[in-house]
Amino acid sequence: MKMLERSHVILLVGGAAVGLIIGVLVGHVATSGNDAAGAESLAFTADQFDLDERQGSGRGSRELLRLISTENIGQNVRELTKAPHVAGGGRDEELVRWLQRKFLDFGFDDVSVPAREYLLSHPDPLNPNLVRLYDGDNATTFTSSYKELPLHPGDEHPEFSHAFCAYTPRGDVWTAVGEAAVYVNYGSLEDFARLAELNVTVKGRIAIVRYGKLFRGNKITHAAQYGAIGVILFSDPSDVAREGQKPEDVYPYTHWLPDGPAAPQEWQGGLEGLVYRLGPTMRPEFATHRLRLTSNNNEVVVKSSNVIATLKGGVEP
Ligand SMILES: *[C@@H]1O[C@H](CO)[C@@H](O)[C@H](O)[C@H]1NC(C)=O
Ligand SMILES: *[C@@H]1O[C@H](CO)[C@@H](O)[C@H](O)[C@H]1NC(C)=O
Repeated sequence: MKMLERSHVILLVGGAAVGLIIGVLVGHVATSGNDAAGAESLAFTADQFDLDERQGSGRGSRELLRLISTENIGQNVRELTKAPHVAGGGRDEELVRWLQRKFLDFGFDDVSVPAREYLLSHPDPLNPNLVRLYDGDNATTFTSSYKELPLHPGDEHPEFSHAFCAYTPRGDVWTAVGEAAVYVNYGSLEDFARLAELNVTVKGRIAIVRYGKLFRGNKITHAAQYGAIGVILFSDPSDVAREGQKPEDVYPYTHWLPDGPAAPQEWQGGLEGLVYRLGPTMRPEFATHRLRLTSNNNEVVVKSSNVIATLKGGVEP
């Protein structure tokens, strides 16, 4: 086999690609053995593959499909996901080593694991981010949940990161007495402009916006531009529970998720029996109440590695 410097194949491994690649490679090793013959069967080049496809023999695609083992993909994805593996944590480091070993076992020529430093945002496990409602005596009458109900036994892992919005700074903000949040639909620039036309402002107030249509980071940026002191994001049933809100109509029984406040007709959502209002005034029975939003995220610099496997090509393209 003639070795050529220029025909190196470099695989940058990350996220979802991992399972597929490992599935292909484990399939390769399992079906052909990790020997010279095995190496031979992998040694078709992109150009040969192209030519095969153009000539309609389909040999390239058939060969690729043959190498994919769904069983191996399943096993590998199970291993990769069996415990939380936040970048920079112990399990992340274990998985870097695991991937490195796997790639070497598959016959890659070189597997490097260069480390980099990253600024990450984590919730505080002992001090969760919350939305709370306080009555006139300053007693808490509502506290938001920050944990999802476990769906399967074993889902409650001590290292699991519960709901949080990454990179939200730490903060503790309150509405004025008798004020709730101001509803701004999806939080787009058009929605904020419309709110201004309706003579309602979010300045110095907490905005509440539904998920969807645009990136949540943009919603928060827009709210900040209009002077809001905090943002509550919620998933609206009209976006996420379109078959209904009964348990059998939502995840995991269908693909819709479970749920999550007078506003223009097109701003009305899907919470049953509820008219969506702009706010910020609370209903008379809550005239002495205040809403509080606290965020306790920590920003930390962590070290984490990429896994880069290199396979030297052996055939002149
Ligand atoms: C209300 O209670 C909160 C939390 O216990 C406290 O931080 C805040 O200072 C209290 N506010 C008043 C007006 O007492
Ligand atoms: C908003 O306020 C302006 C000026 O006071 C008034 O002309 C307009 O009708 C108000 N719009 C709404 C929707 O209340």
